[in-house]
Amino acid sequence: MQRWPFCFARIRAPHNIRTFSAPATRPDPFSLLAPQLGELRQSLLSLLQSGHPRLSEITRYYFLHPSKQIRPIIILLFARATNGLGRQWDQKLWEAQREGAGGRAEELDWPLTRPDVLNDWNPSMPTNTAPFNTAFTLRPLTPHRPPVPKRPPTQNTTSSPALYSPTYILPTQTRLAQIVEMMHTASLLHDDVIDESALRRGSPSAPAAFGNKLSILGGNFVLGRASGALSRLGDPEVTDLIASVLSNLVEGEILQTKAVETSVEKETDVEGDHKVHVTRIQDAWNIYLQKTYLKTASLMAKGARAAVTLGGCKEGDIWREIAYAYGRNLGIAFQLVDDILDYDSASATLGKPGGADLQLGLTTGPALYAWEEHPDMGALIRRKYEGPGDVEKARDFVARSSALQRTRELAQKYADKAKEVLQQLPESEAKSALEVLAERVIRRKS
Ligand code: FPP
Ligand code: MG
Repeated sequence: MQRWPFCFARIRAPHNIRTFSAPATRPDPFSLLAPQLGELRQSLLSLLQSGHPRLSEITRYYFLHPSKQIRPIIILLFARATNGLGRQWDQKLWEAQREGAGGRAEELDWPLTRPDVLNDWNPSMPTNTAPFNTAFTLRPLTPHRPPVPKRPPTQNTTSSPALYSPTYILPTQTRLAQIVEMMHTASLLHDDVIDESALRRGSPSAPAAFGNKLSILGGNFVLGRASGALSRLGDPEVTDLIASVLSNLVEGEILQTKAVETSVEKETDVEGDHKVHVTRIQDAWNIYLQKTYLKTASLMAKGARAAVTLGGCKEGDIWREIAYAYGRNLGIAFQLVDDILDYDSASATLGKPGGADLQLGLTTGPALYAWEEHPDMGALIRRKYEGPGDVEKARDFVARSSALQRTRELAQKYADKAKEVLQQLPESEAKSALEVLAERVIRRKS
């Protein structure tokens, strides 16, 4: 029933690229980046500082129980796997090394506008913020940033693109990894309100610990800080990409609420009409996969593309296309596996009640395959499993079909495609780690 939904035009990478030899043993992506991920988390907490202690407490809450960090890992690995290849790499490297050019780590913390305008009153920073107990007076027009240095003209080189180093990551790319993790966390703060989740990662969810209002406000605060950090990366295309992910997350959540049940058999459908049944299921799959892209894969795909863009790859560089295609396929595979795990009663011991999706009225991949094999599943989908015993019946249909196996096979196809698009990247440890990641996503148990 499920057709492979898209194909890639044959696109070719340039020849003669300097590579680093593929590692003898395949790298573990998590161990490979462990030091960077530790640092990233630490400095992320400082991005969330606020003069309001309760707000700081809630916004840091989910970062203290870290996620799998798959999104930052994708970004950091793509940075390593492509830095040096982009047409504007020399410019990006210069910006990262030259004082005042805006690409050094400390400069990413500098405000783009006067600090006393940007920040609200903070008694611990009396010179950088203005108190509220007096009227605001005009301040002298002193520049708050050093002038941007001019880059000396470069020689025109005809050499082939080359990977710069097996490990180097630009400060802007590390910051992007933090921004993407902040956006993911903000979406979870909101998601746990929508889903009324009691637990996350085995601990009380933010709404359970702080209430709905603070969870929503905390999520908005994290987004505000992430937006400021995004603007300081100084790349309008990256801002555009990442801002569009925010819209995608919301669109995905909205699509999920109406999603699949709208395409289930209508009362007026001719009973037993096989063609109508097949069309309805195809429509439902389309909605489900679109929702999956918007809610899960978009952040991975556009985050990966943004990382490569920050490394100086621009329009016409194939590396950005590879990053997007990898992230999009990996993200869909990741969510399909998540949807399988939701049917696994063992997931209840990991802080998620088994069958949580059905209890929320959500129809995911396994239920769609079960519906194909058991047309009576359609009625349950239509009424969002709200009838007495519906959740148990739906679980039973899934168990008595090949639904979980078929969902796993579909996830495998997406993961294979993610690995396939990597083949055009030059050899490096980071490329091997991206391949390993695509395999791990399928094998994961939580
Ligand atoms: C987890 O889904 C949730 C998401 C991947 C995104 C949720 C998006 C929103 C709530 C829109 C608002 C977005 C922002 C940025 C404020 P899940 O419920 O399937 O997974 P779970 O089991 O981990 O809760
Ligand atoms: Mg949820």
